[in-house]
Amino acid sequence: MVTTVKKPEFEELRPGVKAPAKENLLTPRFYTTDFDAIAEMDLAPNEDELRAILEEFRADYNQKHFVRDEEFNQSWDHIDGETRRLFVEFLERSCTAEFSGFLLYKELGRRLKNRNPLLAECFTLMSRDEARHAGFLNKAMSDFKLSLDLGFLTKNHKYTFFKPKFIFYATYLSEKIGYWRYITIYRHLEAHPEDRIYPIFRFFENWCQDENRHGDFFDAVMRAAPETLNDWKAKLWCRFFLLSVFATMYLNDIQRKDFYASLGLDAREYDKYVIEKTNDTAGRVFPVVLDVSKPEFYERLETCIQNNEKLSAIANSNTPKVLQFAQKLPYYLSNGWQGLKLYFMKPIDVTTTHGVAR
Ligand SMILES: [Fe+2]
Ligand SMILES: [Fe+2]
Repeated sequence: MVTTVKKPEFEELRPGVKAPAKENLLTPRFYTTDFDAIAEMDLAPNEDELRAILEEFRADYNQKHFVRDEEFNQSWDHIDGETRRLFVEFLERSCTAEFSGFLLYKELGRRLKNRNPLLAECFTLMSRDEARHAGFLNKAMSDFKLSLDLGFLTKNHKYTFFKPKFIFYATYLSEKIGYWRYITIYRHLEAHPEDRIYPIFRFFENWCQDENRHGDFFDAVMRAAPETLNDWKAKLWCRFFLLSVFATMYLNDIQRKDFYASLGLDAREYDKYVIEKTNDTAGRVFPVVLDVSKPEFYERLETCIQNNEKLSAIANSNTPKVLQFAQKLPYYLSNGWQGLKLYFMKPIDVTTTHGVAR
């Protein structure tokens, strides 16, 4: 059959199985942690809330949600060219991020089973949710005639070790930012159904509630261990994690602004909204949040975007590698400088408003 569809080329492990995207600072991470330390946590300071969250997880509100309906059963060849490439990339990145949650939670559930049954069951039930999310996204990739080999990913992805409190900050933020990302896309497409070019976005409304509950779980875990929230180190680390999560998302999304444009979204506006909302949400539990309303915040991120464009232009040029390094150096230094300046921007202390507007 002769086809006129412009299909982007993807590197494949085997026919139909996409080679995972190359890992770098901006790709989703896989985590491992000190399981013994988490097993030994004393949850007494917030046990009631954790038990209430466990009951929510057990209720399994989305048990019947992730079922592909007939709208998926059609050809998606009209999503072609660059849009198709960005679409597949979006599905892959989302699937990898969901799957990374699955692996971490599954392992925590397994290792804590006999030592900390309350946390263990919560983690196991969250891994159930993430497995559904990742599976649903991977199935969506197959509509574009590709899929990810999640077993291969499990064995070959690099794992980053984080101490438990860093796992809590990072996963709390990724769950909450995940919630705001999904719900914002959902609401936009609800208002502009003509932009809903693929059915998966219809599922985001209930889906994001899973992420919201997962985030609430980590909120409750941190409250059970107040030392993760109430000293000067907690303030410094919360700032660090807020900044890295926001900056990573912004740099990634602006690079892929055409994907958001294909949904009728302006990537910059979308990201600024998601960052503002996540920052506000984080202020309910973190002792500090970032002052993202200062123009300086986005000005510096924009400088990093320009630097990254220059860096990739150099990397794609024919200049010998040794000279490339010299050409790249000033942009690396500038990125580092912007990062430092962003980190040292005056944060907003929110400890006084805790408990006021939850
Ligand atoms: Fe998820
Ligand atoms: Fe989640």
